[in-house]
Parts: sequence; structure tokens; C-alpha cells
Amino acid sequence: MAEKRNAYVFLEQNEFERTRLNNQFWFYHKHINLDRFIHDERLSLPSNTVILESGAGTGIWSLELAKTVPASVTIDAIDISSKFFPPPSRVPSNVHFFQDSILLLPREWTSRFDFASQKLLSTALTNSEWRLAISEFYRVIKPGGHVQLMDFIWDQWTLSRGPANDYFRVVFRELCQKHNLIPNVTTELPKLLEKVGFIDIRVESRPTPVGFDLGPEGEKGTRITKDGVTSLKPAVLKLGIVSSEKEYDDHILSIEEEWMKGLGGQFTMFCVIYAQKSV
Ligand SMILES: C[S@@+](CC[C@H](N)C(=O)[O-])C[C@H]1O[C@@H](n2cnc3c(N)ncnc32)[C@H](O)[C@@H]1O
Repeated sequence: MAEKRNAYVFLEQNEFERTRLNNQFWFYHKHINLDRFIHDERLSLPSNTVILESGAGTGIWSLELAKTVPASVTIDAIDISSKFFPPPSRVPSNVHFFQDSILLLPREWTSRFDFASQKLLSTALTNSEWRLAISEFYRVIKPGGHVQLMDFIWDQWTLSRGPANDYFRVVFRELCQKHNLIPNVTTELPKLLEKVGFIDIRVESRPTPVGFDLGPEGEKGTRITKDGVTSLKPAVLKLGIVSSEKEYDDHILSIEEEWMKGLGGQFTMFCVIYAQKSV
């Protein structure tokens, strides 16, 4: 199937990215979503629930969710690119993958979903695209249904408590500005959600451990964070603020040395934002 447009604003869609997304899934599921697919503990979804996952990537959230719900629950997973979709043999009959954009979902999906989830599109959606995405969520969610957005907060990205962090702070700020991304989803998305009519909007920011001295979870966080900054490399080189690939690699080495020295920490860079469409 032909791709509709570049799936990412700047990340590369390659095998490294597919593995990175799958490797980080359970770590963020544990630390940010507290092991819950549906973050809002007050929600109990009926057995005929229809769920949307937007920006599904490798589909890991939808496939794992399907293992925890009755087969009568329908899960529609969309992504603008089908490149990372799982092979049909791994997809249960109540899960459906569609190549679609959250900026323009099928017309016939109006009021189709009881619950919609989207994770980690802060690198993929520009400021104006977020506006469209939120209105599309509102259109396709049933009255009384819920939306859940898990994402990272560009302007709170902290990788270490040492001086190497300053360089990455500049990189994140420049990337955000150049690509017109939302620097802080915790302040901007609630406004957009409210504007289209969502109610009971809640924001929860959660820390993740990064650093070799923070036990096995800190080690996982370190590897995942390193893969995250590595995935940004092509975009950073295009920014023109580093003279060579080696210079960027050296900055990654410096941050790794700080992680070894115990300068990591519990950094609050991610959040879950959830809300209800009024009845
Ligand atoms: C960083 S990945 C996150 C994937 C997945 N949500 C996860 O947590 O592993 C961002 C995903 O958003 C998808 N994407 C980008 N723009 C999109 C759009 N307009 N509509 C739907 N998906 C989009 C990309 O193709 C990519 O799969």
C-alpha cells in the first residue's frame, strides 16, 4: 500500500525504530501507565466495547490489550504507515489494522468508539496537526466515551544531572522549534481537549528511572533513553548545530559516562492525559 505522507516529522522508519518501539513498550507501560491499558481506574468497559488505537506503530499496545479483554471487544488500530504492522497471522480476529491518519479518520467512524488511546506522537504531530487530531478524536468517540493520550514532554526532557544534559536540552528545544512541535503537552493538550468539548480532563506526569545505579529498571531506562537520543541523530544532524555525526556520538558517550557516575535519576518527562466526551 502506498504511504500517504512521511509518517514521522523527523524520526527514521527503519528496523532500529521497530525494535526500539517494542523494547520500550513494557518499560513505559509499567512506569507511565502503571501496568494499565486503561489508565483511568474508574472506567469499566462493557464487553461489546469498541476501542481505537491511533498511531499504533508495531501494534504492540492493541495486541497486548487484546489478550486481556473478551473477544467481543473490538480494537481498531490505525497508523499513517503500515510499515510496522504485525503479520496477519499474529492478529486476533477482533483486532483490525488500518492505514489511516488521525488527522482524517473515515467519515463512517463518527461516534464509533467507546475508548480511544494514542501513545508517543509528540515527535509525529506538529502543533496544528494536534488540533486536527483532537477534533477527530472528539468526532469518532461516542458521547460519554473516553480518550487517553500518553506522551512525552519535550521541554521537561532531562537525561542526567550532569553538564552533558545541557547539550541535549538545547537539541530538544531546537528540534521542537524547527518542526513546530508542542513543547509541553501537559499544558497545551488540555486546552485543545476542552476547546472541542471534552470534560473531566486529567493530567498525570510520571517519573522514569534513568541511570545504572538505579537497579534493573534504571538500567532498562538507560538503554531505552540511549536508543531514544540515538534515533534523533539524523534530525539533529539536519539541524546544523553539530558539525559531524562523531560530535553527536561523543555527546551520547558523555551522557553515558554521567549515567555510569550515578548522575542519572528519576526524571519526569512523560504524562498521561485523559478525558471524557460529554454525554
Ligand atoms: C513514536 S511512534 C509510536 C508508536 C506507538 N504508539 C508506540 O507507542 O509504540 C509514532 C507513530 O505515529 C505514527 N503516525 C505519525 N503520524 C500519524 C498520523 N497522522 N496518524 C496516525 N499515525 C501517525 C507513526 O507512523 C508511528 O508509527
